[in-house]
Amino acid sequence: PHVLVLHGPNLNLLGTREPEHYGSATLADINARLAARAKADRVMLECWQSNSEAALIERIHAAWQQTDFIIINPAAFTHTSVALRDALAAVAIPFIEVHLSNVFARETFRHHSYFSDLAVGVISGLGAQGYELALEHALTQLTIKA
Ligand code: DQA
Repeated sequence: PHVLVLHGPNLNLLGTREPEHYGSATLADINARLAARAKADRVMLECWQSNSEAALIERIHAAWQQTDFIIINPAAFTHTSVALRDALAAVAIPFIEVHLSNVFARETFRHHSYFSDLAVGVISGLGAQGYELALEHALTQLTIKA
C-alpha cells in the first residue's frame, strides 16, 4: 500500500510561520514522524509539498492508480481551489483533509472548504498530531484491505 501526504502553500515555512497558529514543528519533523509510523506497518509513504496549485494538481493526477490513500493539507487552497478539488474527485482516491489550526476559530473566510464534503474526514485544530491521527486511520483502512 502507498500513502501520499500533500502539503499546500506556505507549509514549507512551518516552525517559523505564525507559531501561535501552526506550532513549532517543522515540515521535516512532521514528515519524519509520519515516515517512521508508516514504515512500522510496511506501508510506503511519500510526503510532498508545493506552493504551486498547478504542481499539486499534477501530483494528484500522477497518483492515479498508484496511491491508495491521500492525506492533504491544502492550506490556503482549501478556501479557493475548485481545480484542486476537481483533481481529487477525478482520481477518486480516498483522502483526509488536515489543518493544523482550528479553521473554525479563525477568520470567516477560512470556514469554507472546497474539500470537506469529498473527504473521508476532516481534522482541524490538533496541530501536527492531526497528520498522525489521519495516518492511523489510513493505516487501519489499508491493513484491513491488504
Ligand atoms: C491551514 C489553514 C488555512 O486556512 C491556512 O491558509 C493555511 C494552513 C492549517 O493547516 O491550519 O495555510 O490549512
